[in-house]
Amino acid sequence: MIKRIEHLGIAVDNLEKGNEVFAKILNIQPYKEEAVEREGVTTSFFKVGESQVELLEASKEESPIAKFIAKKGGGMHHVAFYTDDIKAEMARLKSEGFELLSDEPKPGADGKLICFLHPKYTAGVLVELCQDA
Ligand code: CO
Repeated sequence: MIKRIEHLGIAVDNLEKGNEVFAKILNIQPYKEEAVEREGVTTSFFKVGESQVELLEASKEESPIAKFIAKKGGGMHHVAFYTDDIKAEMARLKSEGFELLSDEPKPGADGKLICFLHPKYTAGVLVELCQDA
């Protein structure tokens, strides 16, 4: 079952500057910074109630975030929904005709297992499912 919005992913071209902006907006400091090598990103997280804001900076040229920044100049990148059973949700959404970007949940930032849905079928919004690893 999908429980809540876990985080909003926001692409930034400079994590340090992004952190400064969101520290001012939210009036808190990020609680962690974490590199996710296989995704080619460095992330930071801010706690907002039961949800998070995740800032993503590209750590290599082939990173999807680098491509997103080049195309759109940064901004809202994805919405992540928290589920207590990611495999069940992946199977359910697949049977509903959605395309998953991975067959299995993969390790993401902040101690999560994640899976993205192809934005072609999600009203143009990149959707991430996540569960605690
Ligand atoms: Co995310």
